[in-house]
Amino acid sequence: MAQYKIAWLPGDGVGKEVMEAARITLDALKLDADYPHGDIGWDFWRTEGDALPKRTCDLLASSHAAMFGAITSKPVKAAEDELVPELKGKGLTYRSPIVRMRQTFDLYVCLRPCKAYPGNPLNFREGIDLVIFRENTEDLYAGVEFYPVPERLSETLKAISKPYGGFAGYRSDELAISCKVNTRRGSERIARAAFEFARKHGRKKVTIVHKANVVRAADGLFFEEAKKVAASYPDIAVDDANVDAICMWLLKNPMSYDVLVAPNLYGDIISDLAAQMVGGLGFGCSGNIGEKLAVFEPSHGSAPKYTGLYKVNPLATILAAKMMLDYLGETEKGARLEAAVAKVLAAGTVRTYDMGGSATTLEMGEAVARAL
Ligand code: IPM
Ligand code: MG
Repeated sequence: MAQYKIAWLPGDGVGKEVMEAARITLDALKLDADYPHGDIGWDFWRTEGDALPKRTCDLLASSHAAMFGAITSKPVKAAEDELVPELKGKGLTYRSPIVRMRQTFDLYVCLRPCKAYPGNPLNFREGIDLVIFRENTEDLYAGVEFYPVPERLSETLKAISKPYGGFAGYRSDELAISCKVNTRRGSERIARAAFEFARKHGRKKVTIVHKANVVRAADGLFFEEAKKVAASYPDIAVDDANVDAICMWLLKNPMSYDVLVAPNLYGDIISDLAAQMVGGLGFGCSGNIGEKLAVFEPSHGSAPKYTGLYKVNPLATILAAKMMLDYLGETEKGARLEAAVAKVLAAGTVRTYDMGGSATTLEMGEAVARAL
């Protein structure tokens, strides 16, 4: 039996293609691992009514880590329309399998490094090196949502006086409610993960991202807990910023930032912004990390438009594999894989279409494997 069991979840569309390329690099590294396949994605939603079948959860529960490609997701109504006839009208609702994996396995850290590798023609500015810690289980992703709004909740809304209220007199289907739920525990542990990372990797500063001036309850609590954690890391500088302001500051002065920590939805948004500053979809990699399991993925989607063309840039997935190696404690292999990616980018001869080249997904994987 191999040393590691890595659940292998290619998913939909280009997910399969970028995972193939990542596998070329892991095989070249001779990681002592088995990669059992896990079913996930749109086909399983259509035919089984579940995009993340129980057998896949069982596989994840018994694995050291997982690599995940990409999945197609569609709004509730469009998803229902695509179910096989036998499953229609049964009240099944589509929920993103990646969000479900995060919550089922309590993968509370979403780690998203954004580094401008020299030679990447897509860099917004050279030298950018940001690390985002996104809370991954709570906030507006908590799944506490109401539509139509139940009677008791309507009554409660009516009872709340202005300026918070003003929602009396609506029919239950004339308004929709999604709750932003932050807990002290959730806020504390993501902040701790960010500061621990900063200390371990010699990072200078952690920026707490919030909107506590407006979202006073949920973000107020997040900010308060993050500040408490910061106080126990006197060796690391701390500052904070409103989420809107940080979008401007990151673009204006990307070098002034180092590690950022944010509640779930703000982290989702700023990580796309930061990924675009270092090359966009082909470079955004992500780790969903809990106490017992971690799932690594490129942050892009399944790109139906490019499916089957073996055209998309697999470096995001290869960099996600590097994150997985670090997570497993295979830091020497992780460093070698990252150095190989850096070497290919610096040479500039093998480039996928997003970088203005014509290399295929697999050619990029092979180039990285050779550079090892
Ligand atoms: C991400 C994605 C997901 C998210 C989607 C696919 C549900 O945007 O990983 O950032 O919103 O978290
Ligand atoms: Mg996102």
